[in-house]
Amino acid sequence: MALSVHLRSYVCEFIIPRGLYMSEGLGLCSSAKMQPIRELIGKVAATNTTVLLRGESGVGKEVVARAIHKASPRAHRQFLKVNCAALPGELLESELFGHEKGAFTGAYRQKPGKFEAADQGTLLLDEIGEMPQRLQAKLLHVLQDGEFSRVGGEKIIGTDVRLIASTNRDLETAMRAHQFREDLYYRLNVIEIRIPPLRERREEIPVLVDHFLTRFNSQYGRKIEIPADSMRVFVEYHWPGNIRELENAVKRVVVLGTHRTVHQEIAATLGRGPRPAVTTASVTTINPDQMISLKDIARQAARDAERVAIKEVLDRVHWNRAKAARLLQISYKALLYKIVQCGLVTPEEKQGVVPEPASRNEVVAS
Ligand SMILES: Nc1ncnc2c1ncn2[C@@H]1O[C@H](COP(=O)(O)OP(=O)(O)O)[C@@H](O)[C@H]1O
Ligand SMILES: [Mg+2]
Repeated sequence: MALSVHLRSYVCEFIIPRGLYMSEGLGLCSSAKMQPIRELIGKVAATNTTVLLRGESGVGKEVVARAIHKASPRAHRQFLKVNCAALPGELLESELFGHEKGAFTGAYRQKPGKFEAADQGTLLLDEIGEMPQRLQAKLLHVLQDGEFSRVGGEKIIGTDVRLIASTNRDLETAMRAHQFREDLYYRLNVIEIRIPPLRERREEIPVLVDHFLTRFNSQYGRKIEIPADSMRVFVEYHWPGNIRELENAVKRVVVLGTHRTVHQEIAATLGRGPRPAVTTASVTTINPDQMISLKDIARQAARDAERVAIKEVLDRVHWNRAKAARLLQISYKALLYKIVQCGLVTPEEKQGVVPEPASRNEVVAS
């Protein structure tokens, strides 16, 4: 039975008590109420158990994976990461398991894979849900027997790797649709850590903003400060790209803002993305100094409703945009426009850096 650990608060909590410091400003976050989870993560780090990290793109899955590695007895060995969505099947197989000379066109020499390189260390398999079925079987075999052979080779190679897998995909649905092997799912899902999206842990936002502000001010030789009312805008924003998006937004403000324009810069950076649905609560908490017209509220509410509908349809058709456009009865081009306008995070963006709002806007203009 999988043990589920739902992380509802600071990712950093479990790093601090082990006396470890991570560069990601994690030392700033600590709270007594996280003690049980801290202890649990400490226990996870001390073992060789496979861990499955779940959560939206940009929530900090890789940060957690590195933290587990650093807190583990394997800390002095390699931490390696492979993004299963970034490579086609054959290349991914060679990346993971290596290949022998002549295994395929272009294999001029023998090359060890990440399972060999990470021996006695930790291997993070990012976007595990995208791994092709054939490789899922090979992965299961390594996990069970600790051995594999390189592509095009017969020799059995033993390896002792601590595996951490991460995904933002609904693996249970993938499993029911026979896209993800059930046996592998249970093998990976020994300890599951769910990292909530940033919008569900907004209390972290001011600390994170300060952290990135310090970092980018020093990196770019600037002295930008974020006034309290602007910080409110950050705290209330929806953050579909989570901490990665926040990091990019602060970077943008630091690079482009001046003391006098920082307010406008924040509005320009965040204003184009989606905001949470307009509720009575959010209307009544509107800053009295801020002008907001009824028309704007109506427009925002319509956009929020549209956003939810479009996202649902796209998810249902696995982001097949042509199909989604037909279902929504809008043109393909209009759908692409809406995806950008609503700030929906596309599967392509999930695989890499979420483009900054400015570049989203350029897509709209073209
Ligand atoms: N708790 C945190 N404190 C500071 N930075 C963080 C934190 N969590 C994530 N980040 C930063 O946010 C970005 C996305 O984190 P990452 O671990 O790559 O997310 P994911 O793997 O879930 O997509 C990275 O630049 C990372 O350094
Ligand atoms: Mg990642």
